[in-house]
Amino acid sequence: MKTIVVFSGAGLSAESGIPTFRDSNGLWENYKVEDVAHPSGWAKNKELVLEFYRQRFEGVKKCEPNAAHKAIAKLQDKFNVVNITQNIDDLLERAGCVLIRHMHGSINLRKCEWHKSCCMLDGDTKYTCLFAEEHKEAVKLGDKCMMCGGQMRPDVVWFDEPVLFDFETVRELVKEVKYNDGVFICVGTSAQVHPAAALIPLFAQVKNKYIIDPNPKRIADYTLLTGKAGEELPKLAEKLLKGA
Ligand code: OAD
Repeated sequence: MKTIVVFSGAGLSAESGIPTFRDSNGLWENYKVEDVAHPSGWAKNKELVLEFYRQRFEGVKKCEPNAAHKAIAKLQDKFNVVNITQNIDDLLERAGCVLIRHMHGSINLRKCEWHKSCCMLDGDTKYTCLFAEEHKEAVKLGDKCMMCGGQMRPDVVWFDEPVLFDFETVRELVKEVKYNDGVFICVGTSAQVHPAAALIPLFAQVKNKYIIDPNPKRIADYTLLTGKAGEELPKLAEKLLKGA
């Protein structure tokens, strides 16, 4: 089975009703990143940060996977599909996708704020919290870690925190896609946030590669599909499934 790697950003979920970050009226137009998505914001005002993520949590709950998420799931009929997403929503999961790496965490998981002390698995380098757990309600001030009593926080990655992802795995995936004539699809990201954006040049050596975005940047020799994910991904998926 050939492998398809789908690298996604906020644009993938835009048609489900989840706002992007940098489009007009995107999230970063209405909030300061350092207030709500940075450890310094957490140190200053936990209530504000938790309220920001409560709104994200409630918003995601109301949304449904769109045609693009479903098209990615459909590709699994004939391909080994690996999703690497910057999105913290669970719409790929709900569409039926199986292999999903959330580089920036998941809004449905929570962890202890002191992940570096009691919850560390492997010294200072690995960012895994033993108590990351799925939750049905947004995290509140006063929700405590059962081990150390630390305040719980959403298991999302803030700026200046390491992504949940290792580049060795990516290099292996690049080789697999390159030598097995697979496909790389980059959808709905402005590619402004690193290290996530580094995936695009890393996959440049793959022959079959696409960028789907209504405002795509021209990058190397990617095939540009200029349009919305919900329109372009089903068309591309149909073509790939027919050719498989
Ligand atoms: P951005 O908001 O930066 O970019 C969204 C991209 O989606 C833009 O290129 C839009 O043109 C495109 N877009 C909008 N509607 C679309 C649609 N219907 N179909 C396809 N594409 C569409 O979002 P990201 O690139 O995902 O990180 O942002 C990356 C990271 O920055 C996020 O994960 C988040 C943010 O700060 C953290 O919070 C750590």
